[in-house]
Amino acid sequence: MSQKPLIIALSKGRILKDTLPLLKEAGIEMTEDPSASRKLIFDTTREDVKIIVIRATDVPPYVQHGGADIGVAGKDVLMEHGAEGLFEPLDLEIARCKLMVAALKDAPPVSGRLRVATKFVNVAKSYFAQQGRQAEVIKLYGAMELAPLVGLADRIVDIVDTGNTLRANGLEPTETIATISSRVVVNRASMKTRHSQIQAILDQVAKAVAARR
Ligand code: ADP
Ligand code: PRP
Ligand code: MG
Repeated sequence: MSQKPLIIALSKGRILKDTLPLLKEAGIEMTEDPSASRKLIFDTTREDVKIIVIRATDVPPYVQHGGADIGVAGKDVLMEHGAEGLFEPLDLEIARCKLMVAALKDAPPVSGRLRVATKFVNVAKSYFAQQGRQAEVIKLYGAMELAPLVGLADRIVDIVDTGNTLRANGLEPTETIATISSRVVVNRASMKTRHSQIQAILDQVAKAVAARR
């Protein structure tokens, strides 16, 4: 019986690079190099599985609305998108980093409303609200580290790994909002209708994750 292929959504960059070896353990390998192609949907060594390569922030909506059955996304991206319609069964323990607040080194405390630049608008708003701090959140799409340097913002909320990007721009972390790694997300309907196919992949990938610890 031929069934629609299962679609796995990944994003270019570190998620693709770090997820492919784990999928290999489930017998899923890309048959073509996605970085050498303009294609967006790719065959794999399993006839019942295809991989789509999309933007990191598009993974949650694709999976939520059924454009993909399974996806891999950073916890930061999932926190910003919200958990609605998504099942999050597995931590892949890859692309580890922290979501932090940062400021210019030795910045004086801000009295009154804080101006915060970030691409994580929802996370930032709820974090400062929870702390009872007034914040005006400015949405940016990248290079957040630049904002305090040019007086656009008092603080940024951004991903920090080694801290090199902060240091190179005269910034320092001030607070940790969350510890981040990449997670597998599954469409809630697919989890029911294709349970055995998806569960088998999850089990094999989970085994590969555990073997690396
Ligand atoms: P984007 O193009 O969206 O920045 P990335 O490949 O840089 O895509 O990031 C994908 C995910 O990897 C992020 O959502 C985050 O969870 C994590 N990440 C981002 N930057 C780093 C980093 N410097 N070190 C480790 N993990 C990171
Ligand atoms: C990410 C993130 C920070 C940086 C943090 O950028 O947005 O800028 O890494 O890492 P560090 O603490 O080790 O310096 P990325 O390299 O993904 O570039 P991007 O702007 O293209 O997302
Ligand atoms: Mg990045």
